[in-house]
Amino acid sequence: MIHPKHSYFPQLKNDTFLRAARGEEIEHVPVWCMRQAGRYLPEFRESRAGKDFFETCQSPEACCELTLQPLRRFPFDAAIIFSDILVVPQAMGMDVQMVAGKGPTFPEPLKEPEDLQRLQVKVDTAKELGYVFRAITLTRHKIEGKVPLIGFSGAPWTLMSYMIEGGGSNTHSKAKRWLYQHPEASHMLLKMLTDVIVEYLLGQVAAGAQALQVFESHAGILGPAEFKEFSLPYLRDIARRVKDKLKEAGQDVPMIVFAKDAHYALEELSQSNYEVVGLDWTIDPLSARERTGGKVSLQGNMDPCALYAPKERISDIVKKMLEGFGTRGYIANLGHGVYPDMTPENIGAFVEAVHQHSKQMIKQ
Ligand code: CP3
Repeated sequence: MIHPKHSYFPQLKNDTFLRAARGEEIEHVPVWCMRQAGRYLPEFRESRAGKDFFETCQSPEACCELTLQPLRRFPFDAAIIFSDILVVPQAMGMDVQMVAGKGPTFPEPLKEPEDLQRLQVKVDTAKELGYVFRAITLTRHKIEGKVPLIGFSGAPWTLMSYMIEGGGSNTHSKAKRWLYQHPEASHMLLKMLTDVIVEYLLGQVAAGAQALQVFESHAGILGPAEFKEFSLPYLRDIARRVKDKLKEAGQDVPMIVFAKDAHYALEELSQSNYEVVGLDWTIDPLSARERTGGKVSLQGNMDPCALYAPKERISDIVKKMLEGFGTRGYIANLGHGVYPDMTPENIGAFVEAVHQHSKQMIKQ
């Protein structure tokens, strides 16, 4: 199912992000932001106005436009396809709606293990998620080789928690109840999700994605033991299976794992088959380097709220962050997504500070 014939895509002009992911030499530290396509941009709000969120996700033209918007303003070194992690539960047969002021909502979440029967086990990703693949292919053309395009998926535990909670939650106690009361059904669900995610990520690469990020956004609500049992094995399995399949086709695409608030598992994450480990802002850069022992590249991790600071202060914070991580095997990013009330100008200041300081550090 993989079509490695991508020679018809425009040639990549800036591969700094891909080189940093592989720990190779670079002229400046590459930078992008999680949620760089988002409501903090007036043009994003205008494009999205009056339109349903998931309908927008289903329009390749809309996804392409929203992905390109931040690149017109800032010299980011990568783009991430506009989509959402919850398209996977939708493809498995669940109804998900984006409710204004409330966020993603599942009208009929999974309540008991019997509810797993409602799910589509064997998902035809080309049919159910073909709109994402078409968005990626269109964007690869329209981006004109400016920067690499990142594809992504939610990780099994994060998707499972949404499917059981039915939306956002503070305690995630409904989903965690499954782990303690129904461990076997939990593993069954995580395995089902893993199978779909592997196919989904491979489909994204076939469509033109040049890197992949797996979001385990709800890692932090698990303790170390639960993470080791219910998250890590599936994260590892995803990377292993995607890489094995790509290798058969002579392809090699860097993979990033972002397990938010999983500082307790940093050593394990650095040995989980991903080239890059994404970090939230609760981890000190220098200790992250020590704990991962140069085995992986690191991505992150400025507190998004630092973007509320004046520009000079942002520049100082970025400089310290770069000194902590060093310039090799490092991709600058925020520790989580940009918030809707942030000023575009300060995102610009963040990007510029990364480029300027890192160029100076590399020259020395
Ligand atoms: O620019 C990018 O980062 C690419 C696009 C992207 C979106 N969602 C677009 C989006 C990505 C990578 C995601 C992933 C995603 N979606 C995650 C994992 C990353 C993370 O934040 O931890 C999660 C947990 C979701 C689920 C989700 N989707 C939430 C919690 C929300 C916010 C709801 C709200 O009301 O604030 C969304 C909606 C969403 N996804 C928006 C965007 C730009 C904002 C809503 C809109 O555009 O109307």
